Order: sequence, then C-alpha cells, then structure tokens
Amino acid sequence: MSHPETRKSGAAALSRRDFFKVTGAVGASLVLAPTVLGEAAKAASKTVNVAFIGVGTQGRVLLTNALKIPDLRFVAVTDIWPYHLGYAVRLLKKYNHAANGYEDYREMLEKEKELDAVMVASPDWVHAEHAIAGMKAGRHVYCEKEMSNSLEKAKQMVLTSKETKKLLQIGHQRRSNPRYQAAFDLVAKKKCCGKLTFVSAQWNRAKRLDVGWPKDQELDPAALKKYGYDTMQRFRNWRWYKQYSGGPIADLGSHQIDIFNWFLGASPKAVMASGGLDYYEGIEWYDNINALYEWDVSGEGGKKRPVRGFYQVLSTTSHGGYAETFMGDEGSIIISENAGTGGIRREQEAPEADWEKELQKAMAKPAAAPAAPAEPGKEAPKTDEKKDDEGDIKVGHSIPAPGRYYPPINVPNFTKSEHLPHIENFFAAIREGAALTCPGEVGYDTAVTVLKVNEAVAAAKRLDYTPEEFKA
Ligand SMILES: NC(=O)c1ccc[n+]([C@@H]2O[C@H](COP(=O)([O-])OP(=O)(O)OC[C@H]3O[C@@H](n4cnc5c(N)ncnc54)[C@H](O)[C@@H]3O)[C@@H](O)[C@H]2O)c1
Repeated sequence: MSHPETRKSGAAALSRRDFFKVTGAVGASLVLAPTVLGEAAKAASKTVNVAFIGVGTQGRVLLTNALKIPDLRFVAVTDIWPYHLGYAVRLLKKYNHAANGYEDYREMLEKEKELDAVMVASPDWVHAEHAIAGMKAGRHVYCEKEMSNSLEKAKQMVLTSKETKKLLQIGHQRRSNPRYQAAFDLVAKKKCCGKLTFVSAQWNRAKRLDVGWPKDQELDPAALKKYGYDTMQRFRNWRWYKQYSGGPIADLGSHQIDIFNWFLGASPKAVMASGGLDYYEGIEWYDNINALYEWDVSGEGGKKRPVRGFYQVLSTTSHGGYAETFMGDEGSIIISENAGTGGIRREQEAPEADWEKELQKAMAKPAAAPAAPAEPGKEAPKTDEKKDDEGDIKVGHSIPAPGRYYPPINVPNFTKSEHLPHIENFFAAIREGAALTCPGEVGYDTAVTVLKVNEAVAAAKRLDYTPEEFKA
C-alpha cells in the first residue's frame, strides 16, 4: 500500500540510513538560512527553542498547534521512524523552521545546545526515558499522557522535575480548555448539580484495531529490535500491548478520570473493575473495560461524604461517544471535548440560581425537556400533553427527566483547537512563570487512579487506594 505522503515526498526512495544523513545535512545548512536568522533576531529575548520527540499522530497535533504560537523556534525533531521524521521535518520547513532530524534523542539533546523545551509524544512506555533525559539536559518538558505505563517511572519523572527545577507538563489538555474550566466553575464553585452524588464517563469507539503502515516504509527487523519492538505490527499498535501501554483505561480513560478527580477535588479511595479481551484476537489489552470508583469528598462543615462513579471504554461500538457526566441532588451536567455534546439539566424542584438566571438571560428561555421517543408507528407525545388515561407513568415510553435544560457549555469567542490552550499554558509557564495546569504531580495522581483499574480486573475484587500511593 502506498501512502499519500510517501507519494508526495518521494521519501520512499531513501533508505533509512540515507534519510538520517540527508535530513541531518539539510537541517544543519538550513539553521543558517536567512529567514531563520531573521526570525531569531526579531524575537531574540522571547524566542523559545523547541524540539519534538515522537512525531506520529499526536506529535503532529502538538507540532501543528505549536506552530500557531508566536516566537517559538522549532530546532529539532526526533523519531526512530524515518517516515514520520521526514514528514515532520518537511512540514516545519514549509513554515520556515529549519529543524534538524534525529533518530536518537540522546544525540539530539547533546547537539542542540540552544534548546529550551522538548515536547514528547512517543509511546507511553518511553515517556519517562525521554522526559527525564530532557529535564536532566536542562530543558523544560511537555509530555503526553499517559505519563507512563509504570508508576515507578512516572514517579521518577516527578522527582526529576523537582530535582532539576525544570517544568513538566503532562498532556491532559482538558485542564487548560476554557470550556472545561467553565464547567469546573459551574460544578465545583457554583454547584450547578447541587450536592454531587454520582459521576460517569465513557469513551466508546467503533471497531478499529490495526492502524497499519505503508508497506514500503517498514523498519527493518534490526532497527525495530534496537528500540524494543519485535514486529512492525507491535510498533504501530503499541497501545494494545502491555509492555508499551497501560491499555484503554490509560489511553482514553486517563483523560476523563483526571476530570473526575479535578472536579471532585479528591483522589479515589477504592475501585473495582471488570474487563476483558472479548472481541479481538492477537492483542494483549482488554478491548472493553468497566470500572466503579468511590471517592470521599469534602461535604458541609468539612465532613467527608461518598461519591461513586462509573467509567467505561468499549472498543467495538461508538455508542455514547465520549463525555463526562456529573450528577447531584439539584441537577446534572454533561461535558465533552466535543464542543457540541453535553449540557446542563436542573431538577424541576431546584431553586433558580443566579448563574442560571444569567444563562436564561443569554438564551430566550431554558429548553423544555426533550420529547419522549415515540412508540413504533406512533407520533411522539409532546412532553406537556397528558391524556386522561395516561396517569403519571406511561409504560412503553422513556420519559425524559423533568427540569430546565441548557445547551452544551461554550465560551464566547473560543475557537481554538482543544490542544492549543494546554500547549500555550506550557510556554506561558516557561516565559512568564504562569502556573502549569497539569504539572507532573497531577499527572501522577491520575496515573495512580487509572492504573489500579488494571490491577482490579486482574484481582477480580475491590481494591483500596492509600493516601501514600498518591505521593510522588
Ligand atoms: N492528548 C491527547 O489527546 C492524545 C491523543 C493521542 C495520543 N496521545 C499520546 O501521544 C503519544 C503518542 O501517541 P500516537 O497516537 O501519536 O502514537 P503513534 O504511534 O502515532 O506515534 C508515536 C511516534 O513515536 C515514535 N517512536 C516510537 N518509539 C520511539 C522512540 N523510542 N524514540 C523516538 N520516537 C519513537 C514512532 O515512530 C511514532 O512516530 C502517546 O503517549 C499517546 O498516549 C495523546
């Protein structure tokens, strides 16, 4: 199979060894190109020099978003796969960034003397190696989630950040998303759900297993072995194997379970879980996983009270998509990284809060409860229309909960991608000392919360967390 990028670039014609020679040489000569010198002179005091390690799917997302931030100079790209490396180097060149291409991150860290920051989007199992080396070399690090598939390694990342006094931002980007920050304000401060009693979230995706690769771009077995991959299939589908990943609960769940902890202001006290490899064959991680969490949150007068929660990943159906739900005695809220999903429902009996009145002013009036679905062959009844023989409960209809309905949370004039604010926060921390929204300690807390789910599946019982476990 020929990949469109390969056809455009003609990179297929280069052997792996030739590729590193060529990009190295091209990069070195372009460092002196006038456009780059011009850029550097313009922003000498503010310019931050940046390198990437791992430029696959998410590495490109980081790169294309970071390109929108002023006064960043992209000096290097590292990837063990020439196919991805070449794409990233060429892309940066289009935007007048003369990045040197490297296969080995150690060589990159040694040679790029002016480097300020490293953005890591390699597979989870090598995050610690890459992030720790970056910080020890004196660079600030933005590292993708899941922080690591090993808690010991994740802890080392936090400790290295403290020792070296280098910033470590973990890629749970919802933490910097203004829509999520507005939702946090509504849930945790304005109490739009009243007293929280339950949380739930899911990330369900339709059948898709093998991400594939262009057959003319295969790494040879020796190159794969050098970096710990036995086959091209495992290299490309690393997230399904235990050596490389914490499985779907870490890959997808970590984003949303992080939101539970953030909004509840607590780490969980116990979890039980059920999961399995029920559908696919030839991989290692569970293709479905369901977890039940328990938290103790601060209630009135500082008294602790329980909140329970459910989390699910299904890899065979996209039913329900991805969203996080918070429920309480006065209402519920659904928030998703997909801006069109979600909304708030206030219980009919809940008093109209000030924030709610403001919301009503902005809208004509709150929406009525959505209509109940029709019975097959019949029209759906209007929600306020009750026939004499219907009584209060109509068997056969799923009656939408009564209450006042508000649309998905949106922030005026927020049109950025969901990744950009988090990357901006990292560079604002470097330049202006802004507080990181997801420093290593927060990422570690989430890693502890998430990775125990896999233990709970294996143990087939409820497992308790201890407060010490969350200390990095
Ligand atoms: N924040 C988000 O929303 C989000 C979304 C997707 C992925 N991610 C995270 O981003 C990371 C990368 O995921 P992806 O989907 O881009 O995977 P990917 O397989 O598409 O990309 C990984 C890249 O790393 C390279 N690589 C592998 N081993 C390496 C090594 N030892 N040194 C240097 N490069 C190496 C690969 O060649 C590839 O280009 C993961 O940690 C993943 O969890 C985050």
